[in-house]
Order: sequence, then C-alpha cells, then structure tokens
Amino acid sequence: MAIERTLSIIKPDATNRNLTGKINAKFEDAGLRIVAQKRIKLSMEQAGKFYEVHAARPFYGELCEFMASAPVVVQVLEGEGAIAKNREVMGATNPKDAAAGTIRAEFALSVGENSVHGSDAPETAAQEIAFFFSGLELVG
Ligand code: CMP
Repeated sequence: MAIERTLSIIKPDATNRNLTGKINAKFEDAGLRIVAQKRIKLSMEQAGKFYEVHAARPFYGELCEFMASAPVVVQVLEGEGAIAKNREVMGATNPKDAAAGTIRAEFALSVGENSVHGSDAPETAAQEIAFFFSGLELVG
C-alpha cells in the first residue's frame, strides 16, 4: 500500500482534558508518523470555512462554535494507507458506535464532541493539509 498523508485535528474537548499525548500515542502505536503538528485557536470564520461542506447540516453552527471554543492541535499523519488507518484508529463518528480501543470509544464525549477529526479521502486530505500547513512546514 502507498505511503499517504492525512490531516488530523485533536478537538477542543480533548485539548481541554489534556489528552493530546494520549491521542498521539494511539497514532504512533498504529504506525502513523506525526510529520507536522501545531496548536492553534480557530476563529469562527476559520472553523466555518474548514467545515463549509457541512454548511447545510443542522449541526453546522454548533460544530463551528465548538471548534472555535478552545485550542485545537492540527497535524499531518503519514504512513502506509494513512487515511484509512487513521479512520480505523479514530473509530466511528458517534462514540456509541466506535469499536473498543479506538480514540473515540475511549475519549469522545458525544457525536459533536468526538475528540478527533480525520480526512476521509485522498482529495480531502490534500485540501485539508493545505488549509493548515504550507509546504515549508512539511518536512517528513
Ligand atoms: P468530523 O469527523 O470532524 O466531521 C464533521 C463533524 O460534524 C463530525 O466529526 C462530528 O463532530 C460533527 N457531527 C456529525 N454529526 C453531528 C450531529 N448529529 N450533531 C453534532 N455534531 C455532529
């Protein structure tokens, strides 16, 4: 399988509870390398732009307010089949459906406050990485 890169976000519910290290350990234990990472505070406008694809959904406002409510850690994960592997490590969007041992099963509070985001396909991974990182920040 090809080496891929995917965009990951450790969300406000997790940074508020000081879980960044525990979540990063899950990625690294699964063979994903954290090749870029920064802690930032999103504005409502930035959160809205990032989640623009969900603009018509009833939870969009709540989602943007949550993502702008406290710092997030944005990161690029790299590895064989990294996009699918990251989704496996994260678990299902709703923690009630997430498999045992996944990040969302262990740490998520609800479908909204679900601790992590991960890109869902190669095209979105490329777009989402470029949203947060410049080429100069991606040293491998
Ligand atoms: P994420 O992978 O970041 O992509 C979109 C996010 O919308 C998703 O994770 C959830 O956090 C959020 N989301 C999805 N469904 C709901 C919902 N029913 N209510 C609130 N937030 C939701």
